[in-house]
Amino acid sequence: MLLHVRAVLSPAEIAQARVALAAAPWGDGRVTAGEQAALAKHNQQLPESCEAAVQLQQLVLQGLERHALFFCATLPKQISPPLFNRYGGGERFDSHVDSAVRYLRNGAGRVRTDISCTLFLADPQDYDGGELVIEDVSGPQRVKLPAGDMVIYPGTSVHRVEPVTRGARTAAFFWIQSMVRSDEQRRLLFDMDAHLRQLRSTVGETDPSVVGLTGTYHNLLRQWADV
Ligand code: NI
Repeated sequence: MLLHVRAVLSPAEIAQARVALAAAPWGDGRVTAGEQAALAKHNQQLPESCEAAVQLQQLVLQGLERHALFFCATLPKQISPPLFNRYGGGERFDSHVDSAVRYLRNGAGRVRTDISCTLFLADPQDYDGGELVIEDVSGPQRVKLPAGDMVIYPGTSVHRVEPVTRGARTAAFFWIQSMVRSDEQRRLLFDMDAHLRQLRSTVGETDPSVVGLTGTYHNLLRQWADV
C-alpha cells in the first residue's frame, strides 16, 4: 500500500530540523547502502550518530508517535532509527530495492524492512526534480510532498529518486517492521479501521454493529499479528 501521511511534523518542527540540517556534517550517502544500491546511490547523508541526527531522530519519532493514521496504516513492531539525506547539484538515486533486513548499530538488533518511509523536509518549490518514483502494479507513482508530509510504501518496491537540478532536497528515511508482515492483510485492516471510524461517527460508539465489528477487527489482528 502506498499512502500519503500528512503533517507528521509541524511547521515549527520543520524549521527546527532545517536549522540543525544546515549546520550538520554531511557525508557520502553510500555508507549505509548495500553493494548493489551503492552503485546507484549518489547523495549525501548525515552520519548516524552525529548530534544533529540524534536530535532529529527524536523529533521524527515523536511526530510518528502522535500520528494515529500512521499507526493504523503501519501497525509498527519496530522502527529503524531515521536517517537523513540531501540531494543537490544533479544528485540522484537510481532504481533499486531496499535491503530486506536492516542491522542496527552497536548490535541493537535487526529490522525487517516491510515498509519504507520517506518524510520530506524541504518544500517542493525550493528544488527541481527529486521526485521519489515508486514502481507500483498500477505503474510508476511520482511522489513529491510538502515539507512535514511522508509517504509509506511496501519495502518490496523498486524505486528511485530523480536528479535534483536546482536547490536541495532534504528528507528523513527509515523502515518499519510491522506486526502484520503481509501488505495485503495490513491493507484490509487499514480499510476496516477507516470504515469503522466512519460508522462510529454516525451511529455512536455503543451501537451493537460498532461493538461487533470492532471485535472482528481485533480478532483479525490477533490472527495475523506477530508481537
Ligand atoms: Ni531505497
